[in-house]
Amino acid sequence: MKLVNGFTLMDYAKKKGILLPAFNTTNYELTSGIIKGFESTGLGGYIAISSSNLKLSSPKIIADMVKSLMADTTTPVSLHLDHGKSFEDVKACIDAGFTSIMVDASHLPFEENIQEVRRIVEYCHFYGIPVEAELGAIQGKEDDHVSEEDAKTNPDDVAEFIERTDCDLLAVSIGNVHGMDLTPNLDFSLLDEISSISSVPLVLHGGSGIPFDQVRKAKEKNLIKVNYGSDLRQAFIRTFGGAYEQNHNEFDLMSLSKESIFNIQGRVEAIIKEINM
Ligand code: G3H
Ligand code: ZN
Repeated sequence: MKLVNGFTLMDYAKKKGILLPAFNTTNYELTSGIIKGFESTGLGGYIAISSSNLKLSSPKIIADMVKSLMADTTTPVSLHLDHGKSFEDVKACIDAGFTSIMVDASHLPFEENIQEVRRIVEYCHFYGIPVEAELGAIQGKEDDHVSEEDAKTNPDDVAEFIERTDCDLLAVSIGNVHGMDLTPNLDFSLLDEISSISSVPLVLHGGSGIPFDQVRKAKEKNLIKVNYGSDLRQAFIRTFGGAYEQNHNEFDLMSLSKESIFNIQGRVEAIIKEINM
């Protein structure tokens, strides 16, 4: 199946009443496991790659790999730039065929965040591609990016931010964290308030480690997308780490790579089923 436009994927989720998972990829094994997981469950979502990960693989390498792995699939998947950090990254991803974009200017003061998002929204909408923006800062670690800042989304800023940026999805900071080192503590009354104000669907980052019943509860509050990164990365690393622990002489990379794809697929299937139970 061809990559699906992000707006089409959002419509699909609304029609089906499902929460879309966004799985972060890093390499071939993760990408393959994610696509197999989407295909076997028959429920769509996003393959995402963050700006920081683009230092390892270019947008074109990622897009080409995803497109060829999807040649024989039938489940709708969009290719998403996660935590887009620069206009250059956004442009390179759209040129490579990405179908959904996030711009993360949440580290900037409110007014500058608006200006940066607005600039990228104008560019992406020209190509018919939706933009996710972030308001508030999410604490934790993602790839080589560590954020100490924990600024929850201020509900008083939500309406103005959406109106002035014209963003299509809003990533919120409500006690969710990136990575596995901190414990998430979701503030549902804040989510409730934001959801009653927001005219666009919401996104929850830092899915790894959030109990699934809480994700399902958040789904009732206009949540359309939930991001998973560390969970799958651990499945990959553990495959190789476990084999090395058992045999310091291990060198069968082919078998372990296949096993890692199988393990990642298993996590993807479990997450897709849990969040949409
Ligand atoms: O943008 C990606 C995510 O928010 C992933 O967070 O590694 O905590 O699942 P996570
Ligand atoms: Zn994130």
